[in-house]
Amino acid sequence: MQKIIAIDGPSASGKGTVAARVAAALGWAYLDSGALYRLTALHAKNQSVAWNDEIGVANIAASLPVVFANQNILLDGQDVSQQIRSEEIGMGASAVAKLPAVRSALLQRQRDFLTEQGLVADGRDMGSVVFPDAPLKIFLTASAQVRAERRAKQINVPLSGCQFEQILADIQTRDENDRNRAVAPLQQLPDAKLLDTDNLTIEQEVQQVLDWYEKSINKTA
Ligand code: DC
Repeated sequence: MQKIIAIDGPSASGKGTVAARVAAALGWAYLDSGALYRLTALHAKNQSVAWNDEIGVANIAASLPVVFANQNILLDGQDVSQQIRSEEIGMGASAVAKLPAVRSALLQRQRDFLTEQGLVADGRDMGSVVFPDAPLKIFLTASAQVRAERRAKQINVPLSGCQFEQILADIQTRDENDRNRAVAPLQQLPDAKLLDTDNLTIEQEVQQVLDWYEKSINKTA
C-alpha cells in the first residue's frame, strides 16, 4: 500500500499546519504544493513574465531553481519563505494555477516528493490528480468567516472593521477562483473524509488524521 495522505482544502483552512504536524508525527516527508504555485508566480514576476502568459509561466514552472531546506525555501539561492506568503503572490499563485500547461509542468515535481518513508501532501488536487491512489484522502475545511478570523489573528487585525472585511473578501474571491476553474478545481472527492475544523483545535485535527490513518492500515492489514 502506498504511504500517502492527501489533504485538500481551501485557502487559509490551516491544512498546511495540520499536514506538516502529521508528517512529523509519522516521520514522513511533507509537500506544500501551494508553495510551488506561489514560487512559480514569484519567479515569473522576478523574470518579468506576465501571470497570464501560459507558455512563459509553464517554462518558469518547469525549471524553478528551488531548494526546500528544512523550514526555508530558497529560490535562486535567496530565502523567499516569507515573500511567497504575501497576498499579492497568493493572488498570482491563484492566477498561474488556472493554466493547464503550468499544472502539467509541476505534476512530476510534486510526485518526486514521495519517498519510501511516506508523504503527507497538501493542496487542492492532491487526491484528484497528483496522488489519485492515495489510501487516505481528506478534505479539510472551515467556514470563510472562521478562516478570515484565523488569518486576522495571525497578523493582528481586529475581528471587525474594513481591514477584516477585506481579508474575508480576499478569501471568498480565492475560493471562487479555486472552485470554479476548469482544470483541477478544488472539490471534495466522494472517497475523501471531511474534516470540518470550525470547532476543532489543531491538536484535535492532527489526532483525527492520525486516527483515520491507523484505521486505514488496520482495514488493509
Ligand atoms: O494553499 P495556498 O494558498 O498556498 O495555494 C496558493 C494558490 O495555489 C491557491 O490559490 C490555489 C493554488 N493551488 C492549486 O491550484 N493547486 C494546489 N495543489 C495547490 C495550490
